[in-house]
Amino acid sequence: MQDRAEQLGDKVVYQIYIRSFNDSNGDGIGDIRGITQRLDYLKGLGVDYLWITPFFSSPQVDNGYDVADYRTIEPMYGTMADFDELAREAGARGIGLMLDMVFNHTSTSHAWFQRALAGDPKYLAYYKFVDAAPGASAKDPGEPPTNWLSKFGGSAWEYVPSLNKWYLHLFDTSQADLNWDNPEVRRELVDVVRFWKDRGVSGFRFDVVNLISKPDHLEDDDEGDGRRFYTDGPHVHEYIRELVREGGLDGMVTVGEMSSTSIENCIRYSAPRYHELSQTFSFHHLKVDYRDGDKWALAEPNIAALRDTLASWQEGMTAGGGWNALFWSNHDQPRPNSRFGDCSSEEAWRRSSELVGTINHLMRGTPYIYQGEELGMTDPGFASIDEYRDVESLNYYQILQDEGKTPGEALRIIGRRSRDNGRTPMQWDESKHAGFTTGTPWIGIPSNHTTVNAKAEVRDPESVWSYYRRLISLRKETPVIQRGSVHFLDALSDKVIAFERTLDDAPSGPARLVVLCNFSGTRQPAIASDGLAEGSLLIANARDMHEEEGTLVLGPWVAAVFAW
Ligand code: GLC
Ligand code: CA
Repeated sequence: MQDRAEQLGDKVVYQIYIRSFNDSNGDGIGDIRGITQRLDYLKGLGVDYLWITPFFSSPQVDNGYDVADYRTIEPMYGTMADFDELAREAGARGIGLMLDMVFNHTSTSHAWFQRALAGDPKYLAYYKFVDAAPGASAKDPGEPPTNWLSKFGGSAWEYVPSLNKWYLHLFDTSQADLNWDNPEVRRELVDVVRFWKDRGVSGFRFDVVNLISKPDHLEDDDEGDGRRFYTDGPHVHEYIRELVREGGLDGMVTVGEMSSTSIENCIRYSAPRYHELSQTFSFHHLKVDYRDGDKWALAEPNIAALRDTLASWQEGMTAGGGWNALFWSNHDQPRPNSRFGDCSSEEAWRRSSELVGTINHLMRGTPYIYQGEELGMTDPGFASIDEYRDVESLNYYQILQDEGKTPGEALRIIGRRSRDNGRTPMQWDESKHAGFTTGTPWIGIPSNHTTVNAKAEVRDPESVWSYYRRLISLRKETPVIQRGSVHFLDALSDKVIAFERTLDDAPSGPARLVVLCNFSGTRQPAIASDGLAEGSLLIANARDMHEEEGTLVLGPWVAAVFAW
């Protein structure tokens, strides 16, 4: 049994949202060859693995998370030869590829669903179909089987008149949930991971994989949207273990996206003794600015809640032998500097961008960098709903108005919460389309690309990019970051997050670190300063800190790491 810290402690993963990374042929959409062209940039940053979001055949209703064929490549993203070239070139640079497996659902364009629609019983059993009441019709389908809601808004059930049945879709109506209770479905999906494993990938990311096991008995949820019935469902661990065993994935780098999950479940998903996955994404720390848990109700980030959430996940997962994927952003989230920091002045923007980087790279687990985060890319601040592309954003723009919000209020909420905030094109240079495309980009580009861009930052030793590169190399050279235990400290301000990493008998480098992060635009007392003087400053985003009556006071948005 391998310890996760031994396996993964020195690794860093970089997430590529292919549609927005780099366009090689001028059609305005990123593609596989575009990634290959930028491998030297990624090598320069120092990352170990690339998680590439889905590029499989897909009608692109949810930008590729609606897969129509798991074994072929969507022509707009390239060809299998392009993929093989990418894998070869990445491998030559010591970079592994992780592919994104969307196994909770398929597109309704998938041949399996099309055969189900034609009434083939074999394929009806691949999905979650439920009979409608006799006499139901397109005009009057009656009540759906349960009151569960889709995560993109509306009912989670869609009626099919020709079959007089409903099918379950936890996401868009075009994303039909697979029936994992059917062993043939599980076998099909094992074949898919084997197919890609045989093409030389290093690992996989499994999309919303803790939603795959639905309860036998379907009932209304009178407390919520239904998630408590299918999240971390009855057979989920058994099914993941089987997929890993049959697919030959044990020992590879695998990460599961776990929606609304618990520490207890994530220990089982990720601790080596269970032979499931090697790490988990959880999202509780990204809900600290949801009012009453509602993504579409704005609130300022609650830093005390953020601290408590990180503390329980860091310490709880460690105690159970689990392993966290560490992240602030991905293609479903706003940019963390815009969200938790302040981007209204150059200095605040730089500090905020480096603050979130510091905490992410100093915690215990595997840090993920989402494309552009290493440049300090920000939310775009779109001024009109016409600039949004995401199906969830467009649905909620309508839903919020149906609930009584004005168009302006709805737009303001979308502006803070839209997944498109993280989906604007990678800012390569200062030119018109940021060096992303020679054509017209599929979504707008923030005007700050004239200064926030790779070309400018790579050559500037004081840039956010250079700071991220230093964070990555620090992990590689510092055993206490890779393997040290983690313990959260009680800071003197509820705007400061403080924790300690320790590794007895560290073979090299320091044996103890104290990480201090001021999540506010004002000076804050952090911790008692006695003892700090004997430590050295390992890394900090600014020197703006001082001692005052036995207390270390941090300047606005300052992150500092002391080492002994
Ligand atoms: C995951 C993906 C998201 C997608 C959803 C449905 O949350 O990250 O982009 O919409 O699953 O596949
Ligand atoms: Ca392209």
